[in-house]
Amino acid sequence: MQELRSDLLSGTGAKKHGCDVCRHVDSHGDIYNQIDWNLPEPVAANFELNRREFYDGKVELSSLPLFVSMDISYQCNFSCIMCELVKTPLEMPGERIGELLETLSEFLVHMHVSGGEPLLNGPFRGYLSSSQHFPSTLSITTNGHFLNNVLLNDLVRFPRINLHISIDSFDPDTMSYQRAGCDPHRVFNALSLALAMREQVNQKRPKSWYVCLQVVPTLLNAAGLPGYLRQAQELGVDEVQFCSLQGSFPDLSLTGLSVGDAIVLAKDIRDVIQSGLNFEVTGLVDVLQQIDRCAFRREVLNG
Ligand SMILES: C[S@@+](CC[C@H](N)C(=O)[O-])C[C@H]1O[C@@H](n2cnc3c(N)ncnc32)[C@H](O)[C@@H]1O
Ligand code: SF4
Repeated sequence: MQELRSDLLSGTGAKKHGCDVCRHVDSHGDIYNQIDWNLPEPVAANFELNRREFYDGKVELSSLPLFVSMDISYQCNFSCIMCELVKTPLEMPGERIGELLETLSEFLVHMHVSGGEPLLNGPFRGYLSSSQHFPSTLSITTNGHFLNNVLLNDLVRFPRINLHISIDSFDPDTMSYQRAGCDPHRVFNALSLALAMREQVNQKRPKSWYVCLQVVPTLLNAAGLPGYLRQAQELGVDEVQFCSLQGSFPDLSLTGLSVGDAIVLAKDIRDVIQSGLNFEVTGLVDVLQQIDRCAFRREVLNG
């Protein structure tokens, strides 16, 4: 470990240790430089201690973690047709969750919580409404069902909020089919509430709230993706994140697009992008590559 750390710091790199798969390989501690936020105490003190320990080559740290990402429970009120997680009845013990969140968050630069549906979880809801300690940034990935003004007001207590709301389509029928069990209008309304709260909070504390839409492109919602991006622009979200379909779903995979549909879709998506969007788009390169591969089949077939 010490040798690995010293190779990272000297710039020799970590590849010789077989760490090629990690995206932080050869980052030489850049992560510390990327954080230029005004961190509140005691997060700032823990951050400085962690940085010092890293640069001193320590392998046993007295600082606490800076970033934590957790799936607290795989229970969910939806049964989205592409989601395998909810088939796994994993659960953190209820009494530990509140304690863990409270203890860790005092020192965290960033805490991310997902699931299952995290807002279905009682201890997590309890933490959100009554915590005494706050991470510098809290991000939550949610299906949006339980987002209402009471919950949004609880979130205002946190210094920075990053809300990721999963909406696979703005067409109610497609949305309720792909995200089985959801009431699309309730989720669309929750998004509007979240955007209104973001405006309100950001006026007083600029850039402290961020709203991102997450979408899993499938054969069901693919044709609507150009319109989805236009709708996102109209609503004024901060980001649309495309999450490529993972797992084995032959009936949903974009590889099932016909050549003709793939050509039209790839062009329509590129046209929307080129028309200029005023929000971040992430994960789209991967999706366009999948669509292009389907379109490219024509050239292969035609020789
Ligand atoms: C597993 S969910 C957990 C959080 C919350 N329940 C939600 O739906 O946002 C996290 C994200 O994974 C996405 N997702 C679900 N199944 C997926 C799959 N097979 N491949 C890629 N992303 C998937 C969801 O749409 C959601 O955006
Ligand atoms: S809402 Fe999230 S966790 Fe629940 S089934 Fe859908 S993708 Fe999976």
